[in-house]
Amino acid sequence: MDLIDQVRQGIKDASRYITDRVEADLDIGIILGSGLGAVVDAVEDAAVFPYSEMPHFPKSTVEGHKGNLVIGELGGKRVGIMQGRFHYYEGYTATGIVFPVRLLKALGAKVLIVTCAAGGLRADFRPGDIMAITDHINFLGTNPLVGSNDEELGPRFVDMAEAYNRELLGVARQQALAIGVDLQEGVYIAVLGPSYETPAEIKLFTTYADAVGMSTVPEVIAARHMGMRVLGLAVITNTPGAEQVISHDEVLVAAQRSSEKLSRLIINIVGQSTVE
Ligand code: HPA
Repeated sequence: MDLIDQVRQGIKDASRYITDRVEADLDIGIILGSGLGAVVDAVEDAAVFPYSEMPHFPKSTVEGHKGNLVIGELGGKRVGIMQGRFHYYEGYTATGIVFPVRLLKALGAKVLIVTCAAGGLRADFRPGDIMAITDHINFLGTNPLVGSNDEELGPRFVDMAEAYNRELLGVARQQALAIGVDLQEGVYIAVLGPSYETPAEIKLFTTYADAVGMSTVPEVIAARHMGMRVLGLAVITNTPGAEQVISHDEVLVAAQRSSEKLSRLIINIVGQSTVE
């Protein structure tokens, strides 16, 4: 079987595994980053599928990532939430990393809300801030669409002029205002990791971006490939600087501290989004 057939079969088997057990009919797919799991507690009639029990799912290896697909009702919409994601630095292939997005789309999701922890690059950012991603820079050195293209999923060449949907960004702004969240906005630059940035890299990135992280961009590219509308929300967990040492534990603690706030924002956004 060539790779296109393998991926098709993988998506088919995994979506059948879900639809044999629950009515999926998703409106919105959500991917949660490190320490950002709180929104799952608000899902009604939740069906929880551990990645380890689903066919063809890669295994999540990073601490702070749970590894469940949660399907249910949130803000009056059908949602599928990926609690835990896959990163290039863990050694997965491109098809593995974007498999959760492909599955969410196969289960009906037209909108993708993607969240992540990120390092802030702006002097006015504080740990705990939420930044709506207005655009991104792919500095991963790779792209999840490299290799044969499956025309059934999307086109060979994908336009990225409006990777992050303006309408959804507008809803995020409105809802942040409504619940008193001071929403930052900016450009996210994705690096391969797992090493954090050197001071020289931070200096370079600060010229072009507002936050830096090791995820999100692959999923957004795959979502745009399939014509999904995307909203990206980054939680600023640290502000990297020459004198500061970053640790994964620090990132997790800061993310968990903002998880409730992010959760409230997501619930409101989901409730107010159009999903036609
Ligand atoms: N750099 C890269 N990725 C991150 C950071 C950072 O400072 N914080 C959280 N994820």
